[in-house]
Amino acid sequence: MVKKAVIPAAGYGTRSLPITKVLPKEMLPICGRPAIDYLVEEAVNSGIEEILIIVSRYKNIIMDYYDRSLELEMFLKQKNKSHLLQTIQLPDVKIQYVRQPYANGLGAAISLAQTFVKDEPFAVMLPDEIILAEKQTALQGLISIYEKKQSNVIALQEMPLKELGNYGVVDVTLNEENLFKINKIVEKPVSNPPSNLAVIGRYIFNPNIFDYIKDIKPGIGKEIQLTDAIQVMIEKDISFLGNKISNTRFDIGKESDYIKIINHLYSKKNGL
Ligand code: UTP
Repeated sequence: MVKKAVIPAAGYGTRSLPITKVLPKEMLPICGRPAIDYLVEEAVNSGIEEILIIVSRYKNIIMDYYDRSLELEMFLKQKNKSHLLQTIQLPDVKIQYVRQPYANGLGAAISLAQTFVKDEPFAVMLPDEIILAEKQTALQGLISIYEKKQSNVIALQEMPLKELGNYGVVDVTLNEENLFKINKIVEKPVSNPPSNLAVIGRYIFNPNIFDYIKDIKPGIGKEIQLTDAIQVMIEKDISFLGNKISNTRFDIGKESDYIKIINHLYSKKNGL
């Protein structure tokens, strides 16, 4: 059973500067809630019981958000605003943190989760991707595949050619409907992407991935790339499956998607 999730949130959010100089991308407000809270909700709704958030020096506000504020609770009670207490109720999940001292790559960030993960399979959720639940959450889909196949699983989505260069892109063989065997993964291909299927920010990994990340040398952007560890594992015949998901997804590092998700959720909340 997959009960643990890791949310790497130690990057600088350069696409969203200047606001991310003082406000982490993960805390950008979306209809009154920080962006990361939509991932925490997805995790809880997918049966995750423990979350590790990888933070940096400038992200203490994330820890504050998931801590109780006894003064505020008292204040609301004294001022006859107890109906607002439910808005600050903490999610039903255990949250821990680890600091990444230097943002030297997603692979390096994930390697900091080894003590938390121990010898269990675990989910990785990238917080710039908010994926709306449909029949099920994106993560639930991956977890149910993991439970049947015991294989590493990566969420995939079809992307227009001009956008593929911003993603990890996979070469695949179709196994079953929406389920692919991944033959190769290329990070941000400059030309000739192996397909139009891009890696979306949800993964399930077996814990042996840590053995491979530790040997990875800095790659694109001089960062320890998670994709490079995955490619080494694929070359060693370690199974990676790709699940093509159809859920609506917003990349909040893109201003247009940030505005779209606010409009979408606001309209839904107000029945517009
Ligand atoms: P990105 O490189 O897309 O995120 O990493 P970023 O650097 O925060 O944002 P942009 O692209 O410059 O706007 C994907 C995820 O991995 C985390 C980031 O916080 C982000 O959620 N990450 C990346 C780390 O936790 N540590 C790293 O060293 C790198």
